[in-house]
Amino acid sequence: MDFKSLIGHCKEYGFIFQSSEIYDGLSAVYDYGPYGSELKNNIKEYWWKSMVQMHQNIVGIDAAIFMHPKTWKASGHVDAFNDPLVDNKDSKKRYRADVLIEEYAEKIEAKITKDVVKAKKRFGDDFDEAQFRATNQRIIDRQAQIDDALGRLATAMSDGDMAGLKSLIEEFEIACPASGSRNWTDVRQFNLMFNTQLGNIAGEEGKLYLRPETAQGIFVNFLNVQKSTRQKIPFGIAQIGKAFRNEIVARQFIFRMREFEQMEMQFFIQPGSEMKWYDYWKETRLKWHKALGTSDDKLRFHDHENLAHYANAAVDIQFEFPFGFRELEGIHSRTDFDLTQHQELSGKKLQYFDPELGENYVPFVLETSIGCDRMFLSQVSNALQEETVPDADGKDSTRIVMKLHPALAPVKCAVLPLLKNKEELTTKASEVFDMLKYEFNCQYDEKDAIGKRYRRQDAIGTPYCVTIDFDTLEDDTVTIRDRDTLEQIRVNISELKSVIGEKVSM
Ligand code: GAP
Repeated sequence: MDFKSLIGHCKEYGFIFQSSEIYDGLSAVYDYGPYGSELKNNIKEYWWKSMVQMHQNIVGIDAAIFMHPKTWKASGHVDAFNDPLVDNKDSKKRYRADVLIEEYAEKIEAKITKDVVKAKKRFGDDFDEAQFRATNQRIIDRQAQIDDALGRLATAMSDGDMAGLKSLIEEFEIACPASGSRNWTDVRQFNLMFNTQLGNIAGEEGKLYLRPETAQGIFVNFLNVQKSTRQKIPFGIAQIGKAFRNEIVARQFIFRMREFEQMEMQFFIQPGSEMKWYDYWKETRLKWHKALGTSDDKLRFHDHENLAHYANAAVDIQFEFPFGFRELEGIHSRTDFDLTQHQELSGKKLQYFDPELGENYVPFVLETSIGCDRMFLSQVSNALQEETVPDADGKDSTRIVMKLHPALAPVKCAVLPLLKNKEELTTKASEVFDMLKYEFNCQYDEKDAIGKRYRRQDAIGTPYCVTIDFDTLEDDTVTIRDRDTLEQIRVNISELKSVIGEKVSM
């Protein structure tokens, strides 16, 4: 399904609404509706169970959003958490310089694709695309221009060379004259942290930041947690919570938000063992994604070319979103950077006595970090599809179905009396609903024809529909319809809890 239809579907079926929509919305801020909040909670539960409950050596915390301002000085966010910003003087619009350059490169790439498609039409079956690309001078020149620009972009970004970024923008505008005006301000660094003021302290001293990552709440509590839970290295601390970034480019729905949620885990290890744990967590986290049924070809690793200031190795797990492969989760080897920095600025020792080695040291850290909202988007875009299926009369009809993993589905089971106006059926269906509602999230629906009700449940991803019909009144059996296979099986009401429970459990 295309991206626009996906966004429309999320709104129509109560998954996601634009924040403050009646006031024309707040850009890059979203509210989760009834089904969205269920799905999001299930994602968080699935993560928490697999990271905390399933690991004896990982414990969870829930730290505050506000932290002492020195935290962000120590972490490097005050000085280095910047994006290059440029304003268009004519349109008064703001852009992220690196994203603007990438978009120009994509425009040139699109021109290449256009040439290739044209040639394909001209030459038909005899067309050899690889040879055409390798010999067509216009394509060779354009490709070289893209490669050169992206190389220079990477260098300018890692050197913090704002003038270099500006000249790249100007060069590209000559190459893509249709791309807009040439009236730009200088490129400047823009800090992405939101800030506010502590009630009783004026000026810089009282400046508080809304945390841009949850990780720092874990670092500053490292010793509190280690001592209170008597953990031995290697051990991890996990956390789910809100983070805030004043993103300049705020597009692509919930992919890049200004207020979002992270699920992060810091794994504290002996210095020198980081590559072993880096490989371990790379594989473990990829398996976690695949266990949800996300197909192999939609997931890939992407090594970071430019490492963040705290990392000595970093990889993304990328997912193929409707707009291409993008970062879904990051796995970072953060060395002892954060703990050492906090030790220095706080003046408090953040060391661990290793009984095996008989020595004190500042542990190294391996981090896994995934955005809950991005995970949500990946699951919905993986699951939402339009397909042709036989309807009740055996004729082909199209349906929109969200084939979510049953453990993540917002509603696990819909209880449907065959007819609304037969009291025996609705009474029995209500009894079944009352029995199941203690086990999992269920829905009772008696409005409209049964086919229409099935379609409504398909659209929100309900894996099982239980129908109460006249046979039920005779023998206490019901049908369970499977969302994906459309198969219907007949089971006794007394078995419903265990049959459905087994299928939807995490
Ligand atoms: N503690 C490390 C850290 O924060 P990051 O790569 O900046 O690393 C980690 O962010 C994850 O958080 C990303 O992989 C992404 O899933 C999510 N994320 C980051 N910025 C986001 C935003 N503006 N909107 C939604 N999710 C975001």
